[in-house]
Amino acid sequence: MMVRSAVLLLLLAGQAARCPAEVSPPTININLDEDAEVRWKPLLDVFDLDYLRKAAAEVIDTTVPKWVHHAVTPIVESLEKYIPQPYAGEIRGLAKHMGGNLADTVILNFAYEITAFCTSIIAQDKNGLLYHGRNLDYPHSVLTNLTVNVVFLKNGKVAYTGTTFAGYVGLWTGQSPYKFTISGDQRDSEHWWNWWKNFVSAFMFHRSPVSWLFRETLADAEDFQDAVMRLSKTPLIAGVYYIVGGVRAGEGVVITRDRGGAADIWPLDPVNGYWYRVETNFDHWLPTPAWDHRREAANKALNATGQDHINMETLYQVLSLPPVCNSITVYTTVMSAAAPEKYNTLVRPQGCVGET
Ligand SMILES: *[C@@H]1O[C@H](CO)[C@@H](O)[C@H](O)[C@H]1NC(C)=O
Ligand SMILES: *[C@@H]1O[C@H](CO)[C@@H](O)[C@H](O)[C@H]1NC(C)=O
Repeated sequence: MMVRSAVLLLLLAGQAARCPAEVSPPTININLDEDAEVRWKPLLDVFDLDYLRKAAAEVIDTTVPKWVHHAVTPIVESLEKYIPQPYAGEIRGLAKHMGGNLADTVILNFAYEITAFCTSIIAQDKNGLLYHGRNLDYPHSVLTNLTVNVVFLKNGKVAYTGTTFAGYVGLWTGQSPYKFTISGDQRDSEHWWNWWKNFVSAFMFHRSPVSWLFRETLADAEDFQDAVMRLSKTPLIAGVYYIVGGVRAGEGVVITRDRGGAADIWPLDPVNGYWYRVETNFDHWLPTPAWDHRREAANKALNATGQDHINMETLYQVLSLPPVCNSITVYTTVMSAAAPEKYNTLVRPQGCVGET
């Protein structure tokens, strides 16, 4: 135990030198009782409009090849009427607030669906308390300046909380207070030439974008069980890993999703010593590629931490170790559904640089 703690301390001391700047993103309140088209207006209180416009253009330019952008614009325009509410209204409102065109705002909302790399960890301490953490890795430095915590209010009360990017209505990180927490990690690497198929299948075949089912689950699910059911069986436009934490001992799971349903459900098993699960971007039953050491590094750091010492702070430290945290890590969130006030996201403007 002594030796393990000493090793961890050394690891963390090295890390502190390498990962200096972490900043809190702004937090906005979105009132769900307001009309969808106006409810994202508070974004403009905390973000500079010119910056938002430039950033949106940059994300599209660097993610979507020009010819694809041209080719899909008419498709997007013709299918816009099939986008379900409240997303249609919210996206239309965002386009209006940001002074951009509607097709680009839709494309922006789909651009984020396909290139996010991530690490998620769900862990349970000796008292049965659950801690859920995630790194969101994305190859656009501009996103550090777009990261925003969003508190969604209904009837004057917090319905759910999440972290997203300004201009994007979906969620990849969020919590329903006193019920459950969710994070999403990308599974398949989709290519842009498949994009229009996904887009069409989303609306013609009533499949959900990954980040919309995420938000609906936060809004509607009664508890952990219900959330896991919804996230497991609702048809999606792409595969994904959903990591879910609840409020009672044992309520932690990694759901590996195919488009049609769950390919695998991987729960915590604390009785048999499996008090945490780590998910990056590969099926947990398969080895990770030789170039990607995030899973192994996280497992090692969690073993060194030990179930006796896991908490919000130590989980954050694990998520700060290279290569778990790396040069494209945009933000880190730690959360625990039983203690919703502790929800904490920190942005890493320089990512983390270290040996991988
Ligand atoms: C983010 O914002 C800061 C402060 O406004 C600015 O200095 C920096 O260049 C921005 N970063 C990017 C990647 O746009
Ligand atoms: C972490 O501990 C578990 C359980 O003892 C063990 O199976 C696993 O190999 C360890 N992983 C690493 C990377 O040390």
